Amino acid sequence: MQIGVLTGGGDCPGLNAAIRGVVRQAARLGWTTLGFREGWAGVLDREAEPLTIEATDSVLDVGGTMLGSSRTNPLRDPESFAKARAVFDECGLRGLVVIGGDDTLSIAGAMAAEGDAVVGIPKTIDNDVPETDVCIGFDTAVTTVSNAVGRVRTTAVSHRRVVVVETMGRDAGWLAAAGGLAGRADYIAVPERPIELGTLASHVERRAARGLSFSVIVVAEGAEIVDLEVDPAEVHSSDEFGHVQLSARGLGYAAAGALERALGRSVPAVVLGYTQRGGPPTPFDRVLGTRCGVAAVDGLASGDHGMLTALQRNRIVPVPLAEVAGRTRRLDASYLALLDLFD
Ligand code: F6P
Repeated sequence: MQIGVLTGGGDCPGLNAAIRGVVRQAARLGWTTLGFREGWAGVLDREAEPLTIEATDSVLDVGGTMLGSSRTNPLRDPESFAKARAVFDECGLRGLVVIGGDDTLSIAGAMAAEGDAVVGIPKTIDNDVPETDVCIGFDTAVTTVSNAVGRVRTTAVSHRRVVVVETMGRDAGWLAAAGGLAGRADYIAVPERPIELGTLASHVERRAARGLSFSVIVVAEGAEIVDLEVDPAEVHSSDEFGHVQLSARGLGYAAAGALERALGRSVPAVVLGYTQRGGPPTPFDRVLGTRCGVAAVDGLASGDHGMLTALQRNRIVPVPLAEVAGRTRRLDASYLALLDLFD
């Protein structure tokens, strides 16, 4: 028996742990694992390599993905989708483990709807896949953002500066919120909580009036600062899923520039960029990746196809991919209340 595995979309720490978990559990069942190169591109091009326990053992704590990744979308036309589905017969696959965020998983869901033996594993530092409490990569990224905000904070305090820190987070503010709260940010702007520039400036001024002449403001790249002029997202190049590269909007720099004018003092910006996706996974992400990888193979073995390995109440449970497709998990009311409390 042979199964396949791929990683699609933006990379993140913990992907290798999941691949290793897949290979190890497959071997235990006497199955071999074929690793497809660069996400769905490798499936379409039949670019794959056999993965062994030996080749995957030392990657547990290595960031990124040993298989490479891409944002190739086989649903772009019916021929590509048919070609992707033919991989089962052509490569002799009993099943396919798809590790990805909402876009990558949407392909898995479409295949599962056709009856293909697919299991999905949720990963993204954005943490916005529905039905799972935490996605692989999120914990590491939160740690990175928290450390960065804390470091910016000590220099902001020393120099009595207002600094804007831009994080990733396209449609949901999980990373900005958790990283900002943990790093003790003084305001956190997220897509779920639109704010006006004037309100942000008043917030900084009120702090200064209380003797706090520094402020660290965390801004998610997809945050909504309603009266701030930034390029409309559409003018920037988009991927095969139609997503524009939001970092190109330069929200952090734009917000810093506008605050600088409003406050009449220098406001530097720090854009964390790919540092948030890189580096070794935290122990939590190593274990979560491992658990999901093993559970995905168990799902294929038991015929529990078309499922996502979701983390709920600290257990990995199968959730139908059909319930996940096309939805985004955004910050909930309890998180938003926390942000309000600590502004
Ligand atoms: O992985 C998700 C994400 O980190 C988003 O927060 C961000 O908008 C996007 O990836 C950027 O990825 P890339 O630069 O690889 O297109």
